[in-house]
Amino acid sequence: MFFKKQIQWYKLFDSIDAANAFVEKDHLNSITIGNKKICLANTPKGLFAVNDKCPHNGASLSRGYCSKEGSIVCPVHRYHFDLKTGRAKSGGGDYVDTYPIEVRNDGVFIGFSETVWKLF
Ligand code: FES
Repeated sequence: MFFKKQIQWYKLFDSIDAANAFVEKDHLNSITIGNKKICLANTPKGLFAVNDKCPHNGASLSRGYCSKEGSIVCPVHRYHFDLKTGRAKSGGGDYVDTYPIEVRNDGVFIGFSETVWKLF
C-alpha cells in the first residue's frame, strides 16, 4: 500500500471555440469548479489556469490582467505571477497554484492533482 499522486481531469468546455467565447483572447475570466475558484487566462501562448485567490492578500486575480511577458498581474498591489510556474516575479516566496489545461478532440480539460491511496 502506498500513496500516489495523480491528476484528475475535469471537462471545462466542449470545444476550444467555447473556451474562447468564455474567455476572450488576451483576457481573464473566473470559473468555479467544486469549491475552487479558478482564473482562466487566454494568452497568445494558450490557455492557462491558476487559483483565482492572490497569495499575497487574497484579491481576485481574474480582475487583473495579463502582461506581455506571460504573467498574470494582481489588480491590487500589481504583483506579477508566472502563468506556467505560479511563481511571483518579484522574487518573493509567493506562489499561486497552477493547473494544467489540455485541449483535446472532445473538449478542454483542467487537471487537479490528487493524492490517492493504492493497495496494489
Ligand atoms: S493582493 Fe495581490 S498582490 Fe497584493
